[in-house]
Amino acid sequence: MTIKRSVVLGVGSALPARVVTNAELAEKVDTSDEWIVQRTGIRQRYIAGDGETTSTLGLKAAQAALADAGLTSADVDLVIVATTTPDLTFPSTATQIQAALGMAHGAAFDVQAVCSGFIYGVTIADKFLASGSHRRAIVIGADTLSRIVDWTDRTTCVLFGDGAGAVVLEAQDQPGDVKTDRGVLTTHIRSDGRHGSKLCTVGGPSSTGTVGTLTMEGKEVFKHAVGMITDVITDAYQATGFSSGDLDWFVPHQANKRIIDSSADKLGIAPQKVVITVARHGNTSAASIPLALSVAYADGRIKKGDLVMLEAMGGGFTWASALMRW
Ligand code: UT7
Repeated sequence: MTIKRSVVLGVGSALPARVVTNAELAEKVDTSDEWIVQRTGIRQRYIAGDGETTSTLGLKAAQAALADAGLTSADVDLVIVATTTPDLTFPSTATQIQAALGMAHGAAFDVQAVCSGFIYGVTIADKFLASGSHRRAIVIGADTLSRIVDWTDRTTCVLFGDGAGAVVLEAQDQPGDVKTDRGVLTTHIRSDGRHGSKLCTVGGPSSTGTVGTLTMEGKEVFKHAVGMITDVITDAYQATGFSSGDLDWFVPHQANKRIIDSSADKLGIAPQKVVITVARHGNTSAASIPLALSVAYADGRIKKGDLVMLEAMGGGFTWASALMRW
């Protein structure tokens, strides 16, 4: 019996025009290129300038993904934007992008799961497509964390960057064999709000009437990250019968190269299968996975038929995995 799976038809991304190097940051706060590279693997990040916002970057990524899929917005009936830094408190960034795409049909909404947001978005889109209620979805991860970072706090401001990435998913009938089907094969989303204060904004619309600024207990987040990441990936293996040796590509959230390396090592994923873009992009929150996907897809690494594991962990805490055959 055939089942509906969400198959990736197109990928796109967008980055702000301005690159900020570690050396440039070292002129503003007490840090150094050496410290940032050694502790995080980050060498530069893109920072949004005048006129560049989460919705403008998200729109460009969506347009690129549609072009890659050979489709127009008329072919899509669901727009999901994962973001923690919407242009406005409301309306949602998704409806802003929907309008900018010239769509007056379908549904558009935001998902807020911080760095795990893109996988949460893929998970939700996959459920909609699998149910038959919608046919094609654009899932966008877009963030401009530079707008809520405390630029005097060296422990956080060196870590984050801005950007957006998007995928177009289509519900396709597949034979129903998890070992050979194309599309999203399994997703696992988790959260534990008891860790909320370890990575959060100080302030928000309903508490202070401001957007708040980002604060993080970096060591605490680091301590939990590898365990949470490996847990949800193990869940994906248990659900499908695959193991690390079966993966063609591992596309993790890009927060810190040390976290990525430790997770891959603990899971027995070969280093050459790991897509790493944190050096170029920094931590772009919900945008980091689709940005990394689009780099590895554009340079020819990710190809049709490849088995691709996505994972993320971030504020909330939230953490998530998605396994898909391209
Ligand atoms: O995307 C959401 C998930 N977020 C993450 O995954 C982030 C997880 N955390 C991390 O990636 C790491 O904890 C950090 C990169 C944030 C920090 O690395 P660390 O190895 O845990 O360093 P630390 O916080 O223990 O700080 C070590 C030292 C401290 O100085 P003392 O107390 O040893 O004298 C810090 O004050 O490094 C100092 N430090 C810096 N020095 C130069 C902290 N930030 C900086 C900096 N430049 N930017």
